[in-house]
Amino acid sequence: MTTGAHATRVALVTGAASGIGRQIAEHFACGQGASVVIADRDADGAAAAAREIVALGGRAQAVAIDLAATDTLPQALPALAAPFGAPDILVNNAGIAATIPAAAYPLEHWQATLAVNLTAPMLLTQWLLPTMRDRGWGRVVNIASISGVRAGTGRLAYGTSKAALIALTKQFAIEVAEWGITVNAIAPGPVDTPLVRRLHGSATRSAYSDMVPMRRYGTPSDIADAVVFLASEQAAYITGHTLAVDGGFLASGVMVRDLFDQKPAQD
Ligand SMILES: NC(=O)c1ccc[n+]([C@@H]2O[C@H](COP(=O)([O-])OP(=O)(O)OC[C@H]3O[C@@H](n4cnc5c(N)ncnc54)[C@H](O)[C@@H]3O)[C@@H](O)[C@H]2O)c1
Repeated sequence: MTTGAHATRVALVTGAASGIGRQIAEHFACGQGASVVIADRDADGAAAAAREIVALGGRAQAVAIDLAATDTLPQALPALAAPFGAPDILVNNAGIAATIPAAAYPLEHWQATLAVNLTAPMLLTQWLLPTMRDRGWGRVVNIASISGVRAGTGRLAYGTSKAALIALTKQFAIEVAEWGITVNAIAPGPVDTPLVRRLHGSATRSAYSDMVPMRRYGTPSDIADAVVFLASEQAAYITGHTLAVDGGFLASGVMVRDLFDQKPAQD
């Protein structure tokens, strides 16, 4: 596909072997005409995602990379520019999560979560800023979470990492705004992906379905559409923003679903 709003752009999507990232990669390659780098620790999944996009007429290449290895990550990053040159669009999507009581949260998992969800996005952004600045154009979209705004049971490391990712988004945004680079975040609500199928048991599913005003989980496509918007020219004046794509979850407080089915209360 050589036409589309991003036909001359290169998009790097981390964690694009699965779930939300895979859909973001497909949206950029097949809907926008961008060349897409699929970066994931799952080499087979990344290769399969790239093959699927190519079969649909898009341009994509897989690069296996472990974003948890933050000590050696700076040396590994040039491999991500090998397929199509330095990316103009960076989507920091790879993330890990676990549900563990806060009082007993293991240090090892805390550190791994912060490495993948926070330190890797920081290093990737730093890596690409000089070329984005030279070109006078760049887009960074960080996939945060509603868990970075409101606490959830068992989400000590995950929620903290996502809250920090939202802060990181603002910190970068204000320092690079005058270079033509925007840095934004998306806070998805619950989205049906392999991650959520692993984490959400029936009690969690029914709690979310009750608390999301739209009464449904999001789809990877709901999130990918918002990412494409934030990377577009139409979003050129939006930066440092976190966009909730959550069926109304963050807007909501107490909801009485059948309130208007009852007789109006009298004073
Ligand atoms: N699914 C949801 O409900 C939901 C809600 C809010 C935010 N998010 C966020 O969206 C993003 C994608 O989540 P998903 O649900 O698609 O998850 P997923 O598990 O389906 O996909 C995550 C991908 O990241 C990759 N990855 C994990 N650790 C990595 C590492 N060390 N190096 C390289 N790649 C690595 C995995 O291999 C996988 O392909 C995550 O940041 C997640 O926190 C998801």
